[in-house]
Amino acid sequence: MQPVPFFVAGRPDHGEGDLTVHHPYDGRTVGRTTFATPAQVDAAVAAATRVAAEAAALPAHARAAALDHVSRRLAERATEIAASITAESGKPIRWARAEVGRAASTFRWAAEEARRFSGELQRLDTDPTATGRIALVRRVPKGIVLGITPFNFPLNLVAHKVAPAIAVGAPVVVKPAPATPLTALLLGEILAETDLPEGMFSVLTLPDERAADLVADPRLPVVSFTGSGPVGTAIRRAVPDKHVTLELGGNAAAVICEDWNTDGDLTFAAHRIATFANYQAGQSCIAVQRVYVHEWLYDAFLPRLVAAVQELRTGDPASELTDVGPLISVEAAERVEAWVDEAVTAGATIEVGGRRDGATYPPTVLTGVPPTAKVCTREIFGPVLVVARVEDDEAAFVAVNDSAYGLQAGVFTHRLDVAFRAGRVLEVGGLIVGDVPSYRADQMPYGGMKGSGVGREGLRSAMEDYTESRVVVLTGVAL
Ligand code: SIN
Repeated sequence: MQPVPFFVAGRPDHGEGDLTVHHPYDGRTVGRTTFATPAQVDAAVAAATRVAAEAAALPAHARAAALDHVSRRLAERATEIAASITAESGKPIRWARAEVGRAASTFRWAAEEARRFSGELQRLDTDPTATGRIALVRRVPKGIVLGITPFNFPLNLVAHKVAPAIAVGAPVVVKPAPATPLTALLLGEILAETDLPEGMFSVLTLPDERAADLVADPRLPVVSFTGSGPVGTAIRRAVPDKHVTLELGGNAAAVICEDWNTDGDLTFAAHRIATFANYQAGQSCIAVQRVYVHEWLYDAFLPRLVAAVQELRTGDPASELTDVGPLISVEAAERVEAWVDEAVTAGATIEVGGRRDGATYPPTVLTGVPPTAKVCTREIFGPVLVVARVEDDEAAFVAVNDSAYGLQAGVFTHRLDVAFRAGRVLEVGGLIVGDVPSYRADQMPYGGMKGSGVGREGLRSAMEDYTESRVVVLTGVAL
């Protein structure tokens, strides 16, 4: 199998060593690439630095045309790209296709936002001394963006770094996860078809140990990282003077409120929770991990949930019938197994699931879990749900907040007052009413509070994040 190239300043290139990518389901080799050498990394950053002023001055139509091109080509090559996502990450093919569709939308949204990202006009004549003055408040790039991306969305989380950078005219250097670089390199191929100036983007395959050098590089003032909490915290500590955006995951909770009580309500919630605790084997930062159920509804809800989880088919992620594939590695599945075993030793009951097979861990529901167990307090990043009975909706909200994280929560209620109350008290970046916390529209602000990170993604939010305002005051004009 020939190594595929990475991209230095928009051009395909090969480096040193060997990065062989294995299928998490059966361990077979699915592709190879090489690592960028220090000289290639330097060339990528130097080219980005050289092009930064030109990039910031690119007309909106040029930025939007490049983004639209990528969106269109992702859609045209969807079958091949989805297969690549499944092969390197083990994500079931149905979810891989959904990810390609989302990435095409992410680039399309970025194109649309690029066209309307105009800043604002602010009148200053609210004060007599400023009569005849107005301010043009524009947004200008903070500088080159360094994007570091995780394995769980090998395409769309790369898109969320690259697309807003191009939209605002900022060069971008991306380091994809070493477990899943191949799809990011396919994206690099498509980006290379555009008319973006040389140096506008690089996609560099690097071992994680070498990311620290890039983070420390003073030519890269903006760092956007999606991944684990400890790494995110280390980045923030290493470069306190840089603009750092961190998306660090969570232990997302869903609440079944008192009023969500008909047969239909409970069956709907059970299916949504079963699906979104286990989609991509729970390896999403907003996969449902904790469920708090009003005590009057608990006995009716739990069997529905267990039945919905039992319906999920575990197996080869290439099969159309598979709902739950492997985790990213045997080590990841072993960690999940160890945390479940620890909970069981502490008194938890396994209602369904619980027996690992290589990298595959079956969808598992736990009850009676002590709130201090890791399956509750830490991000499990595996197909495991913890279900608990709570005495009322308020107690559920307290339990949701009893977490070091705060990314998204889902509250199943029909009542507006309950929804608004949840919106006031829940310490999360996003609240989904009437559905699971796992809902994300790519154009909406996305990010967390507390240990879930800082800053927001979502096209418009990321564009604001990558830019700062510049005020131009005009004198001698009247509005
Ligand atoms: C994530 O795991 O943070 C991303 C979730 C998503 O984009 O759906």
